[in-house]
Amino acid sequence: MADSREPAVQAAKLDTYRAWQATRYGSAAEALQLGELAYRAPVGAEVAIRVEAAALNPIDYKLLAGQLRRLQKLRFPATPGFDAAGTVIACGPGATRFSPGDRVFVRGSRDTLGAFAEITMQPQAFVAHAPRNLDASQAASLPLVALTTMQALEDRAHAQPGQSILVHAGVGGLGSFALQYARHLGLTVHTTCSERNRALAFSLGAQEVIAYDREDYRHRLDRYDMVFDTLGGEHTLGSFNVIKRGGVLVSVAGPPDREMAAKAPNFLVRWGMQAMAREVHAAAKNKQVRYFRFLTESDGPRLEALVPLIESGEIRPLIDRVFEFEQLVAACEYLQQGRARGKVVLRVALA
Ligand SMILES: NC(=O)c1ccc[n+]([C@@H]2O[C@H](COP(=O)([O-])OP(=O)(O)OC[C@H]3O[C@@H](n4cnc5c(N)ncnc54)[C@H](OP(=O)(O)O)[C@@H]3O)[C@@H](O)[C@H]2O)c1
Repeated sequence: MADSREPAVQAAKLDTYRAWQATRYGSAAEALQLGELAYRAPVGAEVAIRVEAAALNPIDYKLLAGQLRRLQKLRFPATPGFDAAGTVIACGPGATRFSPGDRVFVRGSRDTLGAFAEITMQPQAFVAHAPRNLDASQAASLPLVALTTMQALEDRAHAQPGQSILVHAGVGGLGSFALQYARHLGLTVHTTCSERNRALAFSLGAQEVIAYDREDYRHRLDRYDMVFDTLGGEHTLGSFNVIKRGGVLVSVAGPPDREMAAKAPNFLVRWGMQAMAREVHAAAKNKQVRYFRFLTESDGPRLEALVPLIESGEIRPLIDRVFEFEQLVAACEYLQQGRARGKVVLRVALA
């Protein structure tokens, strides 16, 4: 007989489920195959979620391509994907915060990933009850970008009302959340994007928009208390121009900071990371700027704390495009073009 915490869906559906699997490093087209996995009941504090939507993030195609191999190796075959939303179908005995039937959203485990599947198994510590005013696609679009923004602006920059911030790429997946959250924190918010996205950036809460195809933001010398660097490359160093002396640069795309380098798996990787970051550390020292570069941590309770902000409508998800589950390769290729306005999402209908 089924346990009382067992799924409220037909047992037949649970024998197997469809999941995207990467069997090698490569482009999405080279690496990904749609396959079937056997269902197993959740154990410990695991929650089994019937995925109704999953969101893409640049880290998905970067992991597939092996670009982050020094930090995070894929164990093949791997089901990729971090962000999912759906309905709990079963809970392990230790997953006491959830019950079958709960609508949830999650930024999944960095070790096991698994969002691009009809069912994902996640530790309850990463899962949160979903905002009631959102459909699954909207809910799935939020976890990774929301946690990244909170961990950048609150935990690293310690942003205070009245301070000023430049958010790079304010209409991208991450930026479109960060602009709104920065306004919620009471910051004066400026952003960069192309001229064609100017109106959208204002609608997301930017008070000033620097269109990079019209103006070089680097000429705005010593203007901001903090910069949220979502671009990396030349823009990490370039951002020092516009930060006030003693300010903060939080990057999610630039070279590793010392804390991140210290976590490197071995001496060689650590040495390589430190070498990559040398110029940035010199610029930070020169201007007495605190420089942070971090990897996002999954955190269910923190996502749950965000729910009132979403339900009140103060922060709204922005979705650029929804693809069907079977179109993951096309969705990755679309996101990889780097022109998304908001998030790219997969709709997952049970076959
Ligand atoms: N903790 C972490 O390590 C972490 C977490 C989250 C994200 N990230 C990284 O953050 C980066 C951004 O992620 P995302 O999800 O926002 O990516 P995305 O959605 O693909 O970003 C696309 C956006 O970038 C904008 N853009 C491109 N070039 C630009 C430029 N020179 N100046 C201003 N805007 C520009 C585009 O706007 P236009 O079309 O107007 O150019 C587009 O809206 C990625 O590299 C991702 O891997 C890291």
